[in-house]
Amino acid sequence: MKVSIYLTNFGCFMKSDLLNNSIKILVINFLIIIISCSSPSEPQPQDIEIAKALAIKKLLLSSFDVPENQYPIFTNSTKKWVLTTSTSWTSGFYPGCLWYGYKLSGNAQLKNMAEQFTQGLFEEQYTTSHHDVGFMIFNSYGLGYKITGNESYKNVILQAAKSLSTRFNENVGCIQSWNGEFQVIIDNMMNLELLFWASKNGGDSTYYKMAVSHANKTIQNHIREDGSSFHVVHYDPETGDVMRKRTAQGYSDNSTWARGQAWGIYGFTMCYRETGNIEYLNTAVKMADYYISHLPEDSIPYWDFNLPENYERDFKDASAATIALSGLIELNSYVNSSTYENVINNTFNSLINYYIITESSKSGIIDHCAYHANDPNPDYWDSATIWGDYYFLEALDRINAD
Ligand code: GLY
Repeated sequence: MKVSIYLTNFGCFMKSDLLNNSIKILVINFLIIIISCSSPSEPQPQDIEIAKALAIKKLLLSSFDVPENQYPIFTNSTKKWVLTTSTSWTSGFYPGCLWYGYKLSGNAQLKNMAEQFTQGLFEEQYTTSHHDVGFMIFNSYGLGYKITGNESYKNVILQAAKSLSTRFNENVGCIQSWNGEFQVIIDNMMNLELLFWASKNGGDSTYYKMAVSHANKTIQNHIREDGSSFHVVHYDPETGDVMRKRTAQGYSDNSTWARGQAWGIYGFTMCYRETGNIEYLNTAVKMADYYISHLPEDSIPYWDFNLPENYERDFKDASAATIALSGLIELNSYVNSSTYENVINNTFNSLINYYIITESSKSGIIDHCAYHANDPNPDYWDSATIWGDYYFLEALDRINAD
């Protein structure tokens, strides 16, 4: 708890009737004014422990809801997980949650579950049809390797990097996110970690250059002067020229989709860690400053930073908050900013007190995420999401390591 104490010296003049209206009495009062809570208090260690215990419990309970070879993605109106196959962009997050659950608790059942659901993604190492192979394999096999050192995971991660690298286009200097036209989304910054890792762990050294080139192009074409971001950039695959900038999940082409901004903060912070390039640190800071200056009081953003006033679909996206939280914890370890510290504290307090799902009957850990607020299906507007849970667990782990 940070409490600011101000000592104030008040001097005031009063007229006194008792002294025949002629004497001015100087009254000097020394007052101590304590103004408390000028900045958000740190989450109390016991609150963090309660949140962790609750998260572990929810992960153990998920064994009743998630059958083998199926992967949770978001909750629907019944408050239960909607399940997908291993091919979904989100499939790596559930094994990733289980790995973090195991790391935070040492629980053997969670380790078994993590191994089982990681193994279920084995074939995905060969995915070349979209960029999400990074999310899928690095958050499952990659995290499992970091935690256990299981050597058999290494080749899977290296193969996944090879698959991702097939989507790099020399003319554009980027990895193609989606098919059809050559489209790159800001989310793709997250997949670069797989390439950096592979280039340092026996993979092709060109992976490093691809990741750097992609990050540089993203600074050029996705990030606006004020630190906000475009969601999607279309390139000409022959000339590398920018054809169009637009949104897919944000409010409008020129608005800033909150989760995209969070992917960028996290992604450029990671790129700085992997390269030491100060331009990536500056970009992460610029994006973080935009994000922070557009937050509401509880530090959990609305799904887009440019929603019109009184807009009907005014949902929060707590998954953007968990991604940004985890990214800001790392970013703050490089820049040591009291502003970032306050936002980290406020975000944690809001998530732990208002967004965490306490009911055992409901799936997931963090509620009120907006998967796709523009979608006609209301199930996509306001729910738990598996990536929101993943980055919350990562933030608990990162704050643990502090
Ligand atoms: N990467 C897809 C999303 O954030 O919804």
